[in-house]
Amino acid sequence: MIVGELNTLSSSGLPAVLNNALTLALTARPQDKTPGRYDLEGEHLFMNVMTFETQHPAQKKAEMHEQYIDIQLLLSGEERIQFGVVGSARQCEEQHTEEDYQLCNDIEPLQTLLMKPGMYAIFMPGEPHKPGCSVTQGEEIKKVVVKVHISLMTA
Ligand code: CU
Repeated sequence: MIVGELNTLSSSGLPAVLNNALTLALTARPQDKTPGRYDLEGEHLFMNVMTFETQHPAQKKAEMHEQYIDIQLLLSGEERIQFGVVGSARQCEEQHTEEDYQLCNDIEPLQTLLMKPGMYAIFMPGEPHKPGCSVTQGEEIKKVVVKVHISLMTA
């Protein structure tokens, strides 16, 4: 997991592929887009713009991916993201290979991030994460998840 702020992206130390992916996504102005999937570069780099109500973490499951890196960027509102390192996911359900996700019911040990608008959190394959958790009570948030296929990291 890598966390950072758009204001200091130039000094983030992010690998060029991730820095470029975030820059491409920002150039597409996700804050002005309606929810949905938008291609950024071929099928290996796209973004999902979403708006939804945050929920108590007990009402949600953690997710994990094998093929794509998630860059979760919060556009408005506040959310908590629970997460863990590779190997920390517990009670996982079946792998959805086509959609590249697996749901897990627990993370041990569990870590927590408090996200403010302009912050991004990057989850590598195998790192369980539960975004969209409420801070104090449910609130509407807008965010974009930039999906970067792992093949781009070695290209
Ligand atoms: Cu994810």
